[in-house]
This record gives sequence, C-alpha cells and structure tokens, in this order.
Amino acid sequence: MIGKLNHVAIAVSDINAAAAVYRDTLGAKVTDATDLPEHGVTTVFIELPNTKIELLQPLGDNSPIQRFVEKNPAGGIHHICYEVDDIEQAISKLAFDGTKILGDGQPKIGAHGKLVIFLHPKDFCGTLIELEQV
Ligand code: CO
Repeated sequence: MIGKLNHVAIAVSDINAAAAVYRDTLGAKVTDATDLPEHGVTTVFIELPNTKIELLQPLGDNSPIQRFVEKNPAGGIHHICYEVDDIEQAISKLAFDGTKILGDGQPKIGAHGKLVIFLHPKDFCGTLIELEQV
C-alpha cells in the first residue's frame, strides 16, 4: 500500500537554529521558513536527493505540536510520511483492519496542499504516521 518515503518531520522549538544546523553543519539545501497558520506550524524543508526532512516549529496558541516540543525541548522526530496512490483506498484498507485514523477519519489538505491522514503511533511501532496521496 505505501510507496516512497515522502518526508521525515522533526519538531523543534527554534526552527532557524535547526535550519542552520542542516545548512551549515550538514551542508544541506534548506528552504526559507514558511508560516502555515491553518496548521499551527512554521515549516522549513530540507531537500535531500532521495527524500525531504520537514522541520516544524509551533505557531500560534493551539499548535498541534506544542506539547511534543515541550516534552522534547531539544527537538525530536515527530512523524514519518509515506506516499500512497489512492488515499480513499488506503482508508478503506485501514478501516477493514480496525486501524484508527486520527481526527474524524477523513483526509485533510496537508502542509503540502495534498490529501493526508494521520495514524496513531500505538498501531505503528510507536511512530506517528502520515499518509499523503501523491
Ligand atoms: Co508531514
């Protein structure tokens, strides 16, 4: 069902410092920071030859990653995003298997303008999973 690894998301409290680590220490290509108020995050993308790293910093009062950053003040891996061809088909398969889809179970427009769902870490080896229709 899943295809390519689309990105690994790392949540941090200071996105400019994190971007500098990837740009200056690791020599990666780093985008400018972008605020996504509708998602409660600021993002920076690190473009690698085979995938992306997404840096996330909480934005606003009700950021969905606020608690994670408080619990992981040095930053930490927040989720892993896999690509799927057909998100409705993926939802049907997951529902058939009794897997919990977070939120109301319906796909949402994610941070990259594509349909996404999130899956609970308890069902996936302790890792929050994002599925993105490509
Ligand atoms: Co993501």
